[in-house]
Amino acid sequence: MKIKSLSLAIISATALLSGAAQAYETGDIIVRGGLASVNPDVDSGNLYAAGVEQADSKVDVNNETQLGLSLTYMIQDNIGIELLAATPFSHKLQGKGGLSALGEFAEVKHLPPTLSVQYYPMDNSSLFQPYVGLGLNYTIFFSEKFINGADSTFNSLELDDSLGLAAQVGFDYQVADNWSLNAAVWYMDIDTTGTFKGPAGDYKIDVSLDPWVYMAGVAYRF
Ligand code: NI
Repeated sequence: MKIKSLSLAIISATALLSGAAQAYETGDIIVRGGLASVNPDVDSGNLYAAGVEQADSKVDVNNETQLGLSLTYMIQDNIGIELLAATPFSHKLQGKGGLSALGEFAEVKHLPPTLSVQYYPMDNSSLFQPYVGLGLNYTIFFSEKFINGADSTFNSLELDDSLGLAAQVGFDYQVADNWSLNAAVWYMDIDTTGTFKGPAGDYKIDVSLDPWVYMAGVAYRF
């Protein structure tokens, strides 16, 4: 009798779960939105002034959080194409090493659109849908400017756009029809060269930003 009610309980629980869970299928569109935080793992070269390398003259870049939005189109039941977008990120640049006295001396904005192929390993019975992705990031820098007095000495700051690989892991956890909670993390290869003008003429510095990008929010499946 106990075994019978136990198996009944398991059967009805399974029916409930498979009834509620709607895994992604070919043709689905999944929109994810939430807070996205860009945390650069900065590796700066030295500053070159008029072609001459300056010893111990590096920069650092702070973290920034904005609204992130991504759109996935399922081209197969387990494979999606995702475009990640966001409202513009604004980062402060500060001096490091011999340039520490500069403090926060510049501000740049960027948009990091990223196109990825995603793989969803779980089948239809799972409310938990983890995924991995690999893609390309194109980061556009704009509105670069000197601040906090540095603008009276230096001008014409430009950061080159960057094209690089991006890898991601994430998951959706279904909480209602078509709605899931979502969390994802990307590692993006973003490198740039900054150029500007000042008393010594032309300046140049190579900076590898290679950020970890964290996003947490909700997902809706159409
Ligand atoms: Ni890099």
